[in-house]
Amino acid sequence: MSLFHGGDLAAAEKAFGIKREHWLDLSTGINPNGWPVPELPAEIFQRLPFLDDALIAAASSYYRCDTLLPIPGSQFAIQALPGLFPKCTVAIPNIAYQEHRAAWVKARHKVVLYADNEINGMGADIESGRINHLLVINPNNPTCKLIEKKQLKSYLLKLKKRNGFMIIDETFMDVMPGNSMIDCLDTGHLIILRSLGKFFGLAGVRLGFLLAEIGICNKIQEQLGPWAVSGPAQWIGIQALSDTNWQSNNRQYLYDQSKRLADYLKKIFSEEMISADNTPLYVTLNFNEGFAISLYEQLAEKGILVRYIALDNKTACLRFGLLNGDQQWFRLKSVLKTLSNK
Ligand SMILES: Cc1ncc(COP(=O)(O)O)c(C=O)c1O
Repeated sequence: MSLFHGGDLAAAEKAFGIKREHWLDLSTGINPNGWPVPELPAEIFQRLPFLDDALIAAASSYYRCDTLLPIPGSQFAIQALPGLFPKCTVAIPNIAYQEHRAAWVKARHKVVLYADNEINGMGADIESGRINHLLVINPNNPTCKLIEKKQLKSYLLKLKKRNGFMIIDETFMDVMPGNSMIDCLDTGHLIILRSLGKFFGLAGVRLGFLLAEIGICNKIQEQLGPWAVSGPAQWIGIQALSDTNWQSNNRQYLYDQSKRLADYLKKIFSEEMISADNTPLYVTLNFNEGFAISLYEQLAEKGILVRYIALDNKTACLRFGLLNGDQQWFRLKSVLKTLSNK
């Protein structure tokens, strides 16, 4: 069964009868002001995409890591990784990008779910062998939870002692690289997933990277086969990963935009909301379920798509992606003012 994801404007069009070009799509955590793709040389489309050394060089410099593998989006690794392990127990966040859980279940591993605030107790579970591998999404989507490096490092050592692995999905990490665990890859037993889909805003290009010891990269490479990352994806990746000016300007831009949106939404929903948090790429508000459903539907009826995620049978969250420019701000504000009478 396929899972539902943000950004599905075809589904939104069917559900609400609003044509795709009329939506204000805030249902993803993709940078709305992504890396500006120029016209590509025609030969890029014509030649078979053998892996370009320049892509490896650009990625090694951007990620500060020498053992990495280009993949067609981090989603590829999410699906492939469970196949590398013999039958095991893996701990996965309960509120998270659901594809992780689906992939481990499909590969017939045992999945233990943990809540964000239960990560603190995970050390004992690793030591006792109750869990063999720990999967972390940092920062988490949609909860925004960012687990401190100090804690991750201590768990990594515990996992290593028991021959387990830590898998970290860092697809939303680019804006805060200081929190990345890339500099711990030398320890081994660590697999990191990165993507050009979020910070670079290039979700349709399908380019991501697996960062891990060479043996793991080789095994995933075998599953990839030749030409898995298209020529246009490689060409765009080389330019975007090398564009350090764009990267530093955008980090600041996203911080500012996310803070502005979080401050605004918290003010508007100060009475209804249970809690709120944000990463530089999205803002998540928790409500009681009835309010979240009603707000989601009212926004959708006005052509504003946000992401609804049930948390338990009483609460749900709405995740808002960032806005791009004054017109979009004006549209969101006008709709929210009429809905909330504020
Ligand atoms: C946490 C997380 N990881 C991975 C992915 C997959 O991204 P991609 O395959 O575009 O790299 C997503 C997509 O939304 C995500 O939210």
